[in-house]
Amino acid sequence: MRNLFEKKPLAMLLEEMKHENRLRRILGPVQLSSLGIGAIIGTGIFVLTGVAAHDKAGPALILSFVVAGIACIFAALCYAEFASMVPVAGSAYTYAYATMGELFAWIIGWDLVLEYTVASATVAHGWSHYFLDFISIFGLSIPKVLTNAPFDFNPATGLVSMTGTWFDLPAIVIAAIVTVILVKGIQESATFNTAMVALKVVVVFFVIIVGAMYVKPENWRPFAPFGLGGISFFGKTLWGQTGAGGEPLGMLAGSAMIFFAYIGFDSVSTHAEEAKNPQRDVPIGIIASLIICTVLYIAVTAVLTGMVPYDKISIDAPVSNAFAQVGLPWAQFIISLAALAGITSVLLVMMLSQPRVFLAMARDGLVPESIFGAIHEKYRTPHKSTILTGFVVALLGALIPLRILAELVNIGTLLAFVIVCAAVLIMRRTNPEAARPFRCPMVPLVPILGIVFCMVLMFSLPVENWIRLVVWLGIGFVIYFFYGRHHSVLAKNRAAAALPPADGTPEAA
Ligand code: ALA
Repeated sequence: MRNLFEKKPLAMLLEEMKHENRLRRILGPVQLSSLGIGAIIGTGIFVLTGVAAHDKAGPALILSFVVAGIACIFAALCYAEFASMVPVAGSAYTYAYATMGELFAWIIGWDLVLEYTVASATVAHGWSHYFLDFISIFGLSIPKVLTNAPFDFNPATGLVSMTGTWFDLPAIVIAAIVTVILVKGIQESATFNTAMVALKVVVVFFVIIVGAMYVKPENWRPFAPFGLGGISFFGKTLWGQTGAGGEPLGMLAGSAMIFFAYIGFDSVSTHAEEAKNPQRDVPIGIIASLIICTVLYIAVTAVLTGMVPYDKISIDAPVSNAFAQVGLPWAQFIISLAALAGITSVLLVMMLSQPRVFLAMARDGLVPESIFGAIHEKYRTPHKSTILTGFVVALLGALIPLRILAELVNIGTLLAFVIVCAAVLIMRRTNPEAARPFRCPMVPLVPILGIVFCMVLMFSLPVENWIRLVVWLGIGFVIYFFYGRHHSVLAKNRAAAALPPADGTPEAA
């Protein structure tokens, strides 16, 4: 039993970093920040703002973005401290291994599959919808049976219905293209990403500046038609209004939904192993990308809710539709194009991050090394697991409805943030002397606030998400107990040395 909670000593992590078979160190601070922005701005701001403003928060969605942004900034400071201490590919998984032990590390690694692979499938779906929207501008289309998942789920009725389609072909195609780019190399991926990021940031500025000229302040009244609350506890509303299906409504419920828009800044920490100067640049990449996106998001939401009354905001394409509503239909072309580019770069970075978490887990023996630990001789990328990730993303994106995928992602990521904030608190106690090139300010206050904010958002999500999270973690436990536990490198080393399990205190660096 004690092996389950055995921690990976910090000294061992730092020692491992010196070995061969590592990734190529080529990323600087601008590329890292750009990867962060690449992963952040996408489906969340271009799609989810519509339903969040329309059904959950009204113009108070501006505050929702502030609250979710604050929660993310607390978590980002914690990620930055860890990433500077242990700049290896595993991100939160590695931090948990060093502080809470193997079982927690496995849980978080498995949870990160929710964040990266399931988010990628969600985003591939979103890409597909924008792609169809974009080609329709030129009068083009593809057969309807190839445009969506074959079934859908209605949370209000709890019923599953058939959509009359077979699968989502554009989602498969984009997942395949991104996989090829990712296998080819980190340099190609970063360059491609930088071009996409430039385009989407320019268009976000366009939305803010041009949109601001069409803002009517009366659209911001009433400011919070659904109230400022939205917290529930396993289906029982504690603060705020409740929707027809029992789901929480209000500004905080809006925060929990659009939290998806912020996901991605943490993925910068999975590139620590490819950073030229990770101790300095990864914290810069994490914090800079998050702050830039927070400011842009708040501005876009203020403009959007000021341009159109909240109950007239489109649920499918809120941003481009708002421009059409104020008499600028030509803007649809520019905005759809940027949304496509934006969503492509989100996919790119998410699908880049997943194999790197697997790589760290494979090195520890928790997943098969022959697949997840293999690095391509020429390209120096984890090619096999990149291809496997691409395959799963394509499969989920093709067959599972967007709604089910998206809901899983938020709760999984919030759990990862809670664990990283807690891990910073633990590491400060167990390894107070370890070198911390970046120190999270005001510890323990910042990590504690990070935990509180993320927990509040978790409780502002509809209850089905908790059930799905528990089922997901249950599947993870089964895999761990049948595979990971028996192949753990740490446990094997311990057995080979015939030493009793460590008392759990990581060694000083
Ligand atoms: N933050 C990413 C998006 O909004 C996941 O698409």
